Amino acid sequence: MIRSVVRGTGAALPRRIMKNADFEGMVETSDEWIAQRTGIRQRHIAADDETTASLGEAAARAALANAGLTPDDIDLIVLATSTPNNTFPATAVEIQNRLGMQHGFAFDMQAVCSGFVYAVTTADLYIRGGLAKRVLVIGSETFSRILDWSDRSTCVLFGDGAGAIVLEAGEGDGTIADRGVLAASLRSDGTHKEKLFVDGGPSTTGTVGHLRMEGREVFKHAVGMITDVIEATFSAAGITADDLDWFVPHQANKRIIDASAKKLGIAEQKVVVTVDLHGNTSAASVPLALSVAVADRRIKKGDLVLLEAMGGGFTWGAVLVRW
Ligand code: ACO
Repeated sequence: MIRSVVRGTGAALPRRIMKNADFEGMVETSDEWIAQRTGIRQRHIAADDETTASLGEAAARAALANAGLTPDDIDLIVLATSTPNNTFPATAVEIQNRLGMQHGFAFDMQAVCSGFVYAVTTADLYIRGGLAKRVLVIGSETFSRILDWSDRSTCVLFGDGAGAIVLEAGEGDGTIADRGVLAASLRSDGTHKEKLFVDGGPSTTGTVGHLRMEGREVFKHAVGMITDVIEATFSAAGITADDLDWFVPHQANKRIIDASAKKLGIAEQKVVVTVDLHGNTSAASVPLALSVAVADRRIKKGDLVLLEAMGGGFTWGAVLVRW
């Protein structure tokens, strides 16, 4: 059977690093509060010339170089983002153009922080359905543009960045020993919209709007939702937490990551954590964490890797991949 195998990873971060202490003169907060409650120590913030498209392009080029491929080899780009360059056209098409591609097709996917998990699942279906052979799956965000910089309960949490992988059609036996995407589980539930949303949009206010979040409420739901969707993925693949080599969760809050891993029985040393370096980069957080753990040689060919995310909507999901 056809499997979607990861062939390369890449990442791109804005030049400017903003440390927790840099907020101290802006809002009533402290390095200690941010680090203790979230695990975040710094985040990258995009300059005017750094956009979701430019960061996404840079991450895509890095993933192509890592895979030993060129844009000519790609036939689909799926970009997970909630901070597109324009309302339309899709920023994926802009990235396609920046890569010099006039062939294939590209589209954006909007599932907030779960965007990359949704995008990998979608790209896998295009590959297994025979519509694409090699897909660039990108998560790129500039959340700094939609933050209310006077709201200490949200502005300290987010950062900008992009990560990308190349998925390629390969042959498998249909067992979990195959390399590639092995199982996925996706969920959404709109009853929680008010707990995490942006208070603007083209069809309502005609403005971009700002991110609003009831952090404590989101936290309350997060661990249960994350563990449910991971257990569904484990049972679809017929595995347990002990079979995993690496857990690469959405990087929103170290306390959520720790509580989810503990509830699932995933050993601490198998958890990839980058929230300290990047903050919450929404759809970019999982591919950024992946590219860090691939670059430092923790994740190796043949490893069983679990990706997970939860975010606005609510949306949540998990994907199991053999590297
Ligand atoms: N500095 C200092 N104090 C602060 C700050 C700050 N930056 N922000 C809030 N506080 C205060 C609050 O006002 C509150 O004060 P009070 O007790 O006097 O009312 C106190 O700190 C405690 O606030 P809580 O919100 O209860 O703090 P909590 O421990 O829950 O941590 C946090 C807040 C970090 C936001 C946490 O709730 C969280 O991580 N939530 C989940 C976020 C998440 O996972 N989002 C999903 C993905 S995001 C996406 O999809 C776009």
